[in-house]
Amino acid sequence: MSQLQFCRYQATLGGIVVAFWATSDGETIGPQGRRVDASLGATTTSEPERLPSELFDVQDVGENLRCGNVWEAVPALIMCLGPLLDRLCAVPSDTPPRVLELGAGMGLPGLWAAARGAEVVLTDSNLAVLELLERNARFLGEGAPAVRALDWAALPDWITGAEFDLVIASDVLYDCAAVEPFFGVVAAALKPGGTLLVSHTDRGIVSFDEAIQRAQVEFGLSWTAEASGGEGGGLGESIACHTFEKDF
Ligand SMILES: C[S@@+](CC[C@H](N)C(=O)[O-])C[C@H]1O[C@@H](n2cnc3c(N)ncnc32)[C@H](O)[C@@H]1O
Repeated sequence: MSQLQFCRYQATLGGIVVAFWATSDGETIGPQGRRVDASLGATTTSEPERLPSELFDVQDVGENLRCGNVWEAVPALIMCLGPLLDRLCAVPSDTPPRVLELGAGMGLPGLWAAARGAEVVLTDSNLAVLELLERNARFLGEGAPAVRALDWAALPDWITGAEFDLVIASDVLYDCAAVEPFFGVVAAALKPGGTLLVSHTDRGIVSFDEAIQRAQVEFGLSWTAEASGGEGGGLGESIACHTFEKDF
């Protein structure tokens, strides 16, 4: 059984203040392998607390340990999200851009998009993550994202034809078996011409080149751009942020 502790943080990301719950366990990983507070320049604003044990899957200790982390691909996604939201917001419309975050974890990119005025739905399949996401969404008050349970393996009715403008995801393709269901959900959720922005940490497990091929051939998602680290790109060396567009 995990004994992870969580507390509330506040960080300024791309000029926007985001409050969120995340792990406060010094053993676990935040961006760049450091603690969340150190790597995001976040400050803690609460005492650590434990979540009710029934939220944790005793069969899957590894998954429990991943709960509450803010992974190192998050800042990369937020960095690439800014210009995209600017473009979407520049299109004259009566409604704000609609954004879906998949495998949201603590949901920082989605929270950030909501703080910038997007209509956001944060999703994950893990119960403990969903509890923390609910708390994180509530910090925003008006304009808070909706939080919904979503496992890519079981495509729910509300996704198909949901016509999101943008799907975002950070560090979700670390298991080859997840590639097909993940892109299946993306294809169902996006409107024609909609955009997928996914930041990826290369762990040498999932071939992103193969994933790009499958997204195109099986799901009509055309890869259009990559922002990568190194050479002053501002992302970690093994991290890249990929853009796909859903074919019309
Ligand atoms: C490495 S964490 C990344 C979390 C967050 N996006 C970040 O970058 O900090 C992967 C997340 O994907 C979620 N996930 C994994 N498989 C999933 C599936 N089949 N359906 C929905 N979420 C899934 C996990 O629960 C976890 O929150």
